[in-house]
Order: sequence, then C-alpha cells, then structure tokens
Amino acid sequence: MKIGFFDSGIGGLSVLKEALTILPNENYIYFGDTDNAPYGTKSKEEVKELTFKAVEFLVKHHIKALVIACNTATSAAVRSLREVYDFPIIGMEPAIKPAVEKNNNEGKRVLTLATPLTLKEEKFQSLVSRFDTKHLVDMQPAPKLVEFAERFLFEGPEVENYIKEILPRNIDQYGTVVLGCTHFPLFRKVLTRVLPKNIDIIDGNRGTVNHLYEILKERNILNNSSEKGTVVYYQSGKQVTDPDLLNNYERIIYQDTV
Ligand code: DGL
Repeated sequence: MKIGFFDSGIGGLSVLKEALTILPNENYIYFGDTDNAPYGTKSKEEVKELTFKAVEFLVKHHIKALVIACNTATSAAVRSLREVYDFPIIGMEPAIKPAVEKNNNEGKRVLTLATPLTLKEEKFQSLVSRFDTKHLVDMQPAPKLVEFAERFLFEGPEVENYIKEILPRNIDQYGTVVLGCTHFPLFRKVLTRVLPKNIDIIDGNRGTVNHLYEILKERNILNNSSEKGTVVYYQSGKQVTDPDLLNNYERIIYQDTV
C-alpha cells in the first residue's frame, strides 16, 4: 500500500523530497490540488471541504498512511480527518518550538512566514501561546510566494522584491525565520540571499517525515522491500503525465532546489 501526500499544490513536494530520502523504499501517491490553490487565502470551511475531497480520492487509491503536507490544510482539517479515518494522519506544524527554544537564550526574535489562514487559525495561535512565553514570535503572511511557486517561479526580481517588501525593516533583531508553509522551502535560495547571514531559516519537513517513520514503525507497516519505491503524481484528480510538468516536479524533488 502507498503513503498518500496531500497539498494545495506543489508545496508538499518539499516534504515528499525529504520522505524519499528517509523512506526511499515506500511507494507514494502525491495529490496537489492545483485547480483550487491557493488555500491560504480561503476560509477554513472551504479548505476543510477541499481537503476532505482530496483525501477521499487518496483513500480510493488504498493508502496506508497520509501526510497532510500543507500547514493550512492541517490547521483547517486534521482534527476532523482523524475522527473519520483510522489510518495514521501526519500533519504539518510550523517549527515554533525549536525556534523559540534557540532564541530564548540568544535574545533574538522569531519571524514566522505562513499563509494568512494558518496564522489566524486557532491551531497556530495555541502553539504560539504554549511555547512563546517571552513573546518573541512575530508573524508575516506571504501568500504571493504560493502563487509564484505554482508558476514554478522560485527566483528573479519579482520574487526577490516581494520578499524584501514583506520582511520587517528591523530584520537584524531576528535570529530565526520559520517557514510555516510547505511552499516556502522552495524559496530557500533566494531567502538565504536576501536575509542577513546569521539568521537561521527552518522548516518542519524533516521533523514531519521522522514522525511518519516512527508511526509506520510503531504500527509495523513499514515497507520492508529492498527495492526503491515508486511515486505517482496527481493534480486535482488527474494523473500528471505531461513530460514538462513531470520534469518540473522532479527538478524540485531530485535537484537542489529545496
Ligand atoms: N502549502 C500550503 C501550506 O503549507 C498552503 C499554500 C496555499 O495553498 O496557500 O500552508
């Protein structure tokens, strides 16, 4: 059986990339809801409904576990999904905890970049109030990065100017930038160039995949085959077969974009 990966579009490929490194023998089915992206500027109800539809599709393809490789869909739907399905469902969570732990000692601030919906959702707010006891965390929505990514535009003046525009003026007081949207690691190169050298840029991808591994192991459903697994990609229900598009996907996964 396969592991299902779901995102509003191509952002979840940044998580799948990590999964293919840590769990290369698993078989994957990736569903990006490109026709309905972006999710981050929609209402919680809309995102929940779209997420349920996508998961129903993946369930028909017999998945043994599901990674909601989207912070926005996780905050809108993960709790309800777990009430309906009994296979393991792993969601995304912005890496606030490690960022706060590190900066608590250094006296620097933490900037979280995410979608507008993720930042205003209760899940994120309660994460911050649990760990950010010294009030170090600031938030900045960056919805246009999702649009750029969906156009496979990961660098260049348009992207760079937008990032410069949305970054706080007093950027030197930050020690860490948390990428709280799975589309954003696709901009790591340009972010590294634009941000001061001493700022760490972190995401939750490795942690999510480690968690997936632990759960599969615990339930004894790891694929023990010694052969490399397969990946099939779907965009809103249609299998991706166009060679140019597949090439764009595979560039993200197998080359050093992320
Ligand atoms: N990739 C998604 C996330 O992690 C959402 C992007 C969007 O569709 O707005 O939040």
